[in-house]
Amino acid sequence: MTPSPSSFRTAILIVAIIATCQFSLHGQVITIPIETNDHAIVLQTDKNNLLRTVYFGKRLNSSTEYAASSKVNRLDDENIGIHNAVYTSAGTWNLAEPAIQVKHNDGNTSLELKYASHSQEQPDANTTLTRIILKDNVYPFQATLYYKVWKNENVIEQWTELQHTEKKPVLMQKYASANLYFADRDLYLRTFHGLWAKEMQPVETKLERGIRSIDTKLGARAMLLQSSSFMLGFDQPAQENEGEVLLGQIAWSGNFKIEFDVDPYENLRLIAGINPFASEYSLAPNQVFKTPSFIYALSDSGTGKASRNLHSWARKYRVLDGEGQRLTLLNNWEATYFDFDENKITALYKDAKNLGVDLFLLDDGWFGNKYPRNGDTAGLGDWQENTKKLPHGIGYLVQEAKKEGVKFGIWIEPEMVNPKSELYEKHIDWVIRQPERPEVYYRNQLVLDLSNPEVQDFVFGVVDNLFTKNPELAFIKWDCNAVIFNAYSAYLNKKQIPQSHLYVEYVNGLYKVLQRLRAKYPKVPMMLCSGGGGRGDYELLKYFTEFWPSDDTEPVERIFMQWDYSYFFPSIVTDNHVTDWGKQPLKFRTDVASMGKLGFDIVASHLSEEDIRFAKEAVANYHSFKNIVWHGDLYRLVNPHENPIAALMYVDGSKSKAVVFNYLVDNRQRLTETNKSVKLSGLDPSKKYTVKETNIYPGRKSPIDPAAIYSGDFLMKVGINPEISLWRTSVVLEVNELK
Ligand code: DGJ
Repeated sequence: MTPSPSSFRTAILIVAIIATCQFSLHGQVITIPIETNDHAIVLQTDKNNLLRTVYFGKRLNSSTEYAASSKVNRLDDENIGIHNAVYTSAGTWNLAEPAIQVKHNDGNTSLELKYASHSQEQPDANTTLTRIILKDNVYPFQATLYYKVWKNENVIEQWTELQHTEKKPVLMQKYASANLYFADRDLYLRTFHGLWAKEMQPVETKLERGIRSIDTKLGARAMLLQSSSFMLGFDQPAQENEGEVLLGQIAWSGNFKIEFDVDPYENLRLIAGINPFASEYSLAPNQVFKTPSFIYALSDSGTGKASRNLHSWARKYRVLDGEGQRLTLLNNWEATYFDFDENKITALYKDAKNLGVDLFLLDDGWFGNKYPRNGDTAGLGDWQENTKKLPHGIGYLVQEAKKEGVKFGIWIEPEMVNPKSELYEKHIDWVIRQPERPEVYYRNQLVLDLSNPEVQDFVFGVVDNLFTKNPELAFIKWDCNAVIFNAYSAYLNKKQIPQSHLYVEYVNGLYKVLQRLRAKYPKVPMMLCSGGGGRGDYELLKYFTEFWPSDDTEPVERIFMQWDYSYFFPSIVTDNHVTDWGKQPLKFRTDVASMGKLGFDIVASHLSEEDIRFAKEAVANYHSFKNIVWHGDLYRLVNPHENPIAALMYVDGSKSKAVVFNYLVDNRQRLTETNKSVKLSGLDPSKKYTVKETNIYPGRKSPIDPAAIYSGDFLMKVGINPEISLWRTSVVLEVNELK
């Protein structure tokens, strides 16, 4: 689209540089406030021109006062250097955990980065970009720190660019994205650990002196054991509606490390970036190394506000088509596993149509001929339709779906290979493996070497061929089931590039493929999956419209998991499917899956008549309220970690419509414990509303009076009783403004 002259003029106006570079002379103190609407980070030079964090907290009314904050907090330490360096370098006077550690081309290991200049731009009314150049006085090495701020959302994205003009490469041993500093606070850290089908298990720790770190060394499927998202509560464990909190994430889809270093004075140094483990990076002269982004939302009113802001930032500025629509679907994975053929698949289309979902998703098992993919031991890498199962190919499946009035999507896992595959036989040099050691498999498969441009072309080609042959293909599920064992790249070896680049170049290779794909196919929805939630970060979500949080769809477990994911991700990006996991009734399972992007992975024709009637109505209801779930504000009302029930609600932008989900999560409690009111949130106190139960199972009567009229004030102070009980374990309420 060509920009109109007026939008062009506006663009010129808003790209006004609001501060020009300043060069600091010794003795002249430079203060750099980086402000969101509610918070400020203040950086300041000291007498030696070292740049330090002198304030991290609530924004001051007058920015002229920031300069004095260093005098209030005595931050110097005569013995072991300063701890509040804005990007701590190793090898000179600093003996604290560094953000950067290098070996120069002559073997010298010293680095001291001093303030050189900075600029602040305001690309638009809501965004500022601060750029700070730090330089070493002895070696021509520099770091440029970036702080991008979305003021209204109180979200900050930080990254660093590293470069030098030494004669030969510099070996970077550690190269963090960000190095934050918080003076004199009691800090409570919540991290999220996992296993297959057990993702996002929270652990809360009070940070004490010493270093606590979270990291992964798994290479691909990097978040299998540990999420890269975390939260910090200041002076108390993070609360939903009060207190200062930070929700953070390193947006890197490979090995990451986040260190929380509490010094002897109880100040916290937070260092986040690529994991230095086995990843020394040899940086050529003039090459610019851009670190991944460290993204965080700050709030002075608890995690509720932080999440709502982060969600709104993600939808507006980060996630592909974040403000768009999504496709509800029927998936065949758990309905058939590998055991299907053309007839079985096309028969399922009727179920999709009958349920009223938008798309049918064909999962694993459709490819491989010499080594058919009839289980997870063979065929991965051979992306040709299996002619026995699908004699008329994918094209036929797409067309048949179209006849039925549903769209068609397909599963791939293009970064991986089974040793039993033609791809492995032809291109063993494309496989990450130690040539002299026995192969070690994860789910019977190995990882392709994405540092190799030929492999990047191959992976791009898998998707490109599918779209070229089937332009009406409407959805991709991109899976990644294995970790990297035996890390070794034949390609890097051939090119005489150090092996220690592999973990980094694997991820960069993946991003390159995705950039190419999105240049050619900008919009088609793609689900990110990694054997469940082994991936899910704000870098990949630039290319994916959604992700699969876990294979665990047992709905009670899922309530907890979705609750914990919801701190960091908006519902529009979390895919939830109704499956046969667990013992909860279909209604419970469907209600839980409706708190995100709804899908089904069941044989609908096996459902009872009543169940199918319910499911169809529930899908129709979902279509009527999905925009509130996808684009509205989330309020977590009753925390299942602390109560026998869970309740959360979504409210639309004009506060005229809301959907409230309530569940019994622990039936050991006496019923009187659960039969309590739920206080709503986010409504307009002066508006009048009605509350109506929806997703009612056929034959059941709702005790909720749909004709009763309440003020928003009443619903938020007194609440509404969803009448959760052993007989009503799941209740969905629609709140509508009375107009
Ligand atoms: C793991 C995914 O999480 C499942 O949903 C399914 O797609 C299987 N892989 C297929 O192998």
